[in-house]
Amino acid sequence: MGRQRCRLHFLKETIHIVEMIQLDDIKRMLQVQGYFTDDTVAMSVFLSMQLEKPLLVEGPAGVGKTEIAKVLAKAMDTKLIRLQCYEGLDATHALYEWNYQRQLLHLKMTEHNEQSLEEKERTIFNEAFLLKRPLLQAITQEKKPVLLIDEIDRSDEEFESFLLEVLSDWQITIPEIGTIHASKIPQVILTSNRTRELSEALQRRCLYLYIDYPDFEKEWTIVKHKTPGIDSKLAGQITRFMQELRTVKMEKKPGLSETLDWAKALASLHIDHLDRVVIEQTLGVVIKDWKDTREVQLSLGELMEKTGIIPRVDKL
Ligand SMILES: Nc1ncnc2c1ncn2[C@@H]1O[C@H](COP(=O)(O)OP(=O)(O)OP(=O)(O)O)[C@@H](O)[C@H]1O
Ligand SMILES: [Mg+2]
Repeated sequence: MGRQRCRLHFLKETIHIVEMIQLDDIKRMLQVQGYFTDDTVAMSVFLSMQLEKPLLVEGPAGVGKTEIAKVLAKAMDTKLIRLQCYEGLDATHALYEWNYQRQLLHLKMTEHNEQSLEEKERTIFNEAFLLKRPLLQAITQEKKPVLLIDEIDRSDEEFESFLLEVLSDWQITIPEIGTIHASKIPQVILTSNRTRELSEALQRRCLYLYIDYPDFEKEWTIVKHKTPGIDSKLAGQITRFMQELRTVKMEKKPGLSETLDWAKALASLHIDHLDRVVIEQTLGVVIKDWKDTREVQLSLGELMEKTGIIPRVDKL
């Protein structure tokens, strides 16, 4: 009995270690491509790969949603196929279109030959005259690609239902050619900024990951890594300032992209520490809304105190 319990314990431990190794592998794999992440993100990516299920990534602007797909494609050494969603996007732009100009040209060039009308029709409605759009491209790759369906919340609900069909069946029917089945199921990453609720049906088909603004540790690591040569003190000040800035009530809170832009801008100006003048002159890199700019200007003294750029009045 005792031995059995021992074996069970050993098995559990082994499974735990295997999971740890795989999670660490995923983290390392993404980190090699310059994407720093925690266990939650790594686990979502890992499960999405294991279960071949799309991963729906939501979160505020500029926190690394789109970047996941980009680095994953690099890490898997495969093609990144991107479908950028927008209002009015329809199936034609996502699936395929016929290359009318080429078809016309072909008809013109062959107008005097002996082919029957049916034969000519068969010729111009085959794959050579097909313009593959992202979804068709994604299911006809020899190597499993990463399919990024970016900002799905911007598309209309009808498009979402159509997409659901493709994501369930992994096949596309072209009336003139027939049904094309996926050669490899793509690794799908969908992103959304939550400008509208997505349908429950779509959510059910996906694994879900919410990425929030980074904590100090993560943001600092990314700033240091992505801004080579930045002064350590400046990197710390920028990160602390950004963390505090996000606590101010604003229309558009700055994300990691703004932090990185700011860090790069200040590093290129050979600045090694923040002060009021530097912040005021470069605030436009971080804040992109006039009301928010006003708000931040009003609370700048307090922000600088909180981040230790100037000493607190009560400590003077
Ligand atoms: N975890 C991370 N590690 C390294 N760099 C990151 C990470 N997250 C984000 N970044 C960087 O932050 C920037 C913004 O990332 P990304 O474009 O993916 O944001 P997003 O969430 O898709 O934003 P939006 O909602 O505006 O499209 C990129 O330059 C990216 O390299
Ligand atoms: Mg994005």
